[in-house]
Amino acid sequence: MGQLDGKIAVVTGGSEGIGAATAGRFASEGATVFISGRREAELDSAAKAINAQNRGGQAIAVRCDVSVLADLDRLYARVKDHSNRIDVLFANAGVAELMRLGDITEEHFDRTFGINVRGLLFTVQKALPLLSDGASVILPSSIAASKGLEAASVYNATKAAIRSFTRTWAAELAGRGIRVNAVSPGPIETPGLAGLTADPAQARMLKDLQLTHMPLGRMGDPGEVAAAVLFLATDASSYTTGAELFVDGGLAQV
Ligand SMILES: NC(=O)c1ccc[n+]([C@@H]2O[C@H](COP(=O)([O-])OP(=O)(O)OC[C@H]3O[C@@H](n4cnc5c(N)ncnc54)[C@H](OP(=O)(O)O)[C@@H]3O)[C@@H](O)[C@H]2O)c1
Repeated sequence: MGQLDGKIAVVTGGSEGIGAATAGRFASEGATVFISGRREAELDSAAKAINAQNRGGQAIAVRCDVSVLADLDRLYARVKDHSNRIDVLFANAGVAELMRLGDITEEHFDRTFGINVRGLLFTVQKALPLLSDGASVILPSSIAASKGLEAASVYNATKAAIRSFTRTWAAELAGRGIRVNAVSPGPIETPGLAGLTADPAQARMLKDLQLTHMPLGRMGDPGEVAAAVLFLATDASSYTTGAELFVDGGLAQV
């Protein structure tokens, strides 16, 4: 028996990285998982890969850019038609770009806040009518919310905003039995992390810098974040809300 048998889940940014691993884990635990992303081909192949596993659940791909409110309406209309409820929402979609304070542009600020903060807020707000009583909402914060990682002030601030949303929405939604928690990964091997810099020397330096301070001495795997998100998604975490679960090899902890 799967931990999410019969449950309806939505994972934004479900075509790659942490979102894809989590959607796959949810489906393997019996859930029907709606996955979204901007690039249709990547999204469809992620859904196909999950469905090929055929482990009880299924993935349904719906193209949606979370920074476009009409796209969110379309995503939730599809969920409403199919299932008329959401039991688990992982508002995972997010982007990261390195830029030092002196170089920050309006475009960089607007793009990063537009997806990570504005897009996430409306992802959750527009899900409210469909969220079942007792649903679980999981938000993607990061160790970046509590560390001063250089050249990432805008990204770090978006993740601190998400940490703050977690507390407020946990309070606002507790009356409906809806729990809201944040997952805060450290460096996880994903296309997003690999794409942070096009310069291989800078990428190596970033990795070495993180590993030097990493108690577990290695990068994380998306499946390790998926396991933590699964815990927050199920009744195993029934008394946990407003919390931040770090999955960071100890990087921000010691
Ligand atoms: N990897 C890490 O080390 C790490 C650490 C801490 C926190 N996080 C957070 O964890 C989340 C996932 O990170 P990741 O590394 O797995 O990222 P990733 O490999 O870049 O994957 C991001 C996913 O989100 C989708 N996406 C991006 N912008 C979107 C938008 N506007 N609307 C809908 N989907 C969108 C992407 O698909 P499309 O491009 O096709 O839209 C892709 O499926 C992010 O919120 C990130 O900030 C990651």
